[in-house]
Amino acid sequence: MKRKSVDLTFSMVVQPSFIIGTNNEDGSYNFAPITWVSATCEGGDDYLIVISMFGTKATKQNVVRTGLLSVNLVNREMLPIMDYFGSKHAKDGEKNDIKYGVSRGAVLDVPTLDESPWVYECEVAKSVETGDSTTFFCHIRNVQMDERISPKNTFDIDLTELDPVIYSGKYHSLGEKLGEIGDFCK
Ligand SMILES: Cc1cc2nc3c(=O)[nH]c(=O)nc-3n(C[C@H](O)[C@H](O)[C@H](O)COP(=O)(O)O)c2cc1C
Repeated sequence: MKRKSVDLTFSMVVQPSFIIGTNNEDGSYNFAPITWVSATCEGGDDYLIVISMFGTKATKQNVVRTGLLSVNLVNREMLPIMDYFGSKHAKDGEKNDIKYGVSRGAVLDVPTLDESPWVYECEVAKSVETGDSTTFFCHIRNVQMDERISPKNTFDIDLTELDPVIYSGKYHSLGEKLGEIGDFCK
């Protein structure tokens, strides 16, 4: 394949879409989409969500203050909620121009979105500052998944069932399932 060198602002990586739920100082909840999300593992089954936030947004301040957050996977039906939460800053008032369901976490005291098919309840283990961004490494204290699906293990998840939104500056859906590990090196 022939390639060309381009401007460094084309720093696109394929981003999964999550809406982050946090507690405001007055006890109310706040939600905002964050797509700079990845994962790592300390060893054994101790997985961490890695999530990066830019600037001084309320979501980031809430995470710094409380050390707690919910990480709600966004599917196709949730696009209007994500678009709305992302276009409104908490400092401009409550995000209540759209309907959505909120529950408390099963393990941690975090707000979770009823519409999401997959939710992590997380506690910050460590944060790293790089310029105006803060990256949080978060212990997963609970995983909630849509009760209609029952994957055997973490390698048995059919993403087409979850229908997640993928982000690159535009919103995308997944295509078809291509196979399993090992299917292509036989
Ligand atoms: C699709 C989408 C993805 C976003 N991803 C991020 C992100 O990864 N990191 C970030 O700092 N802000 C991200 N934002 C911006 C915040 O969601 C936005 O600033 C939001 O209004 C912050 O809300 P808050 O003031 O309630 O914290 C994203 C926005 C959208 C619409």
